Amino acid sequence: MAILVTGGAGFIGSNFVLDWLAQSDEMVINLDKLTYAGNLENLASLDGDTRHLFVHGDIGDSALVAGLLVEHQPRAVLNFAAESHVDRSIHGPEEFIKTNIVGTFQLLEAVRAYWSGLDLDRQKAFRFLHVSTDEVYGSLDKDEPAFTEQHQYEPNSPYSASKAASDHLVRAYHHTYGLPVLTTNCSNNYGPYHFPEKLIPLMIVNALAGKALPVYGDGQQIRDWLYVKDHCSAIRRVLEAGELGETYNVGGWNEKTNLEIVHTVCALLDELRPRADGQPYQQQIAYVTDRPGHDRRYAIDATKIAEDLGWKPSETFETGIRKTVQWYLNNQDWVANVLSGSYREWLEKNYSERQI
Ligand code: NAD
Ligand code: DAU
Repeated sequence: MAILVTGGAGFIGSNFVLDWLAQSDEMVINLDKLTYAGNLENLASLDGDTRHLFVHGDIGDSALVAGLLVEHQPRAVLNFAAESHVDRSIHGPEEFIKTNIVGTFQLLEAVRAYWSGLDLDRQKAFRFLHVSTDEVYGSLDKDEPAFTEQHQYEPNSPYSASKAASDHLVRAYHHTYGLPVLTTNCSNNYGPYHFPEKLIPLMIVNALAGKALPVYGDGQQIRDWLYVKDHCSAIRRVLEAGELGETYNVGGWNEKTNLEIVHTVCALLDELRPRADGQPYQQQIAYVTDRPGHDRRYAIDATKIAEDLGWKPSETFETGIRKTVQWYLNNQDWVANVLSGSYREWLEKNYSERQI
């Protein structure tokens, strides 16, 4: 038995592969294009482990994917592969359209061809699980109820629009062809191996380097935060027991403003790695020009996955964020390797024109 994971060298995908193989001997075929966000160092602990087969390639390479499916006969395909950063989608949407929409379409086509050729028992047991985001639902006002699975799609950025399109394709492949699909829509993840272009790792890395902590706009935007290992356990549970064709919202019941997040990170660093001059890290906060079209609030109602599948997060924000800050302190080599030339170019592009 095997599963095929796409995007398994990225932040969530690598956490998923590591957790999967910590709990099961079922083989993982890991297909990843190794964009700037893919990092084989995340999977270094699996070197020499025959249960993990890494394949360097694109989900849009139909021949490659078809060959992998025929050769390894997976019982499930889990699609994590995507361009995932909203700011990058604003600077350059094309890769988002190529991978998130066209790539997902090509992957679905290859999977449909493979699945159609299976015998009936294996067809029934097969699953295509699509990992998506709460951003497809758009933005909430402060007093509006959290997103349920029935909330209408109102994506506002090129990133969320591309993810929404992929969700619709996945839904259509179930409705039209009967492909046994499942979709998860999750809130903001944080934890180990998070690429430091995203809020929490960026704040940790910049704080330790003595750099500005760039808060977009007034910092009062709200996100729901979930420790990445809890997202991984939700995906395993949906794969195991989710109802075909259904979508499941996944969240941490943990809404925070961006400023609260930055203050929490600063306070933990003050405790765990105080500044040499004894001053608080909060002094490094700098308010900068807002993200264009910035969604004000996301909130996830995770009642369905709790009631139907018995899943709930095991970390609180307090325990998860402490583990995360400690992980970055303990893994400074990983951070140093990630801060490569191309990452520095991104920082220049995204932050040089934002006024402080
Ligand atoms: P990430 O950017 O860290 O990783 C994406 C991975 O996909 C990288 O390893 C990259 O090399 C790979 N990839 C990109 N294009 C590819 C292609 N064409 N073919 C094969 N591989 C390709 O992203 P992440 O934060 O780990 O997110 C994973 C998935 O979860 C995405 O689909 C994202 O939309 C979704 N999601 C993310 C979050 C979050 O907070 N990070 C929350 C909800 C949902
Ligand atoms: O909600 C789920 C989504 O969460 C995922 O689908 C995306 O893949 C993931 O990147 C994340 O999107 P966000 O845009 O919410 O994450 P990001 O870390 O980029 O930003 C979080 C918030 O912090 C957002 O309101 C913008 C703000 N921000 C971000 C950066 C990078 C800042 O204020 N300053 C910054 O420098």
